[in-house]
Amino acid sequence: MKASGSIPFFALFVAFTRALTSTPQVKLGDVPSAGCLDSRLAVDFLRAYQPKYVDHFYTTNASETNNAVFFLGYSGEGVAAYVFPWYLPPDRRPSTVPLYRMYNPKVIDHFYTTSYSEVQSAKSLGYDYEEISAYVYNTNICGSVALYRLYSSSGTDHFYTTSASEASNAVAKLGYTEEGIVCYVLPVPPWPYPDLILS
Ligand SMILES: *[C@@H]1O[C@H](CO)[C@@H](O)[C@H](O)[C@H]1NC(C)=O
Repeated sequence: MKASGSIPFFALFVAFTRALTSTPQVKLGDVPSAGCLDSRLAVDFLRAYQPKYVDHFYTTNASETNNAVFFLGYSGEGVAAYVFPWYLPPDRRPSTVPLYRMYNPKVIDHFYTTSYSEVQSAKSLGYDYEEISAYVYNTNICGSVALYRLYSSSGTDHFYTTSASEASNAVAKLGYTEEGIVCYVLPVPPWPYPDLILS
């Protein structure tokens, strides 16, 4: 479908699609029996980019994105995916795993992984553990899609996208190397799409 350049229409389409993908008979807050979380609990995983230091930054906290955009030279790049918020209690997030966030202030790089052993090895490389960024699926269930990880050694940048074409473009044209699938997240509409932070 062509977006016809109309942001309000497209935002509506997004909202409509999200409503359709929820399980109708499940009330908000119920834990669906299939082990899938109610997709209405998912929140925006916001993406921002700092071209000078070459850093992709992802957060569910819009204040953090705004701070990065207004004060730290990042550009908002919209919603990378839908993920489950860090504050969900354990009984509300079955079938998910934590996505850990780390940051290396020397090389200005945000790094995300579901692997605790990678957290440990990143620490030895100068990364600080920051927080659980979100909860995500670690297998391809419940309508989720792969979140790919790429790395640029020249930019010391970890880059995450659900778009296979964006990933292959980063490899072909921007010097990134594929590092596989980090986890599975709920999809956004076809890239590119309007920035929903401001809507
Ligand atoms: C979101 O980020 C802001 C700014 O960094 C911080 O003050 C606030 O505590 C964060 N909110 C949550 C819910 O983490």
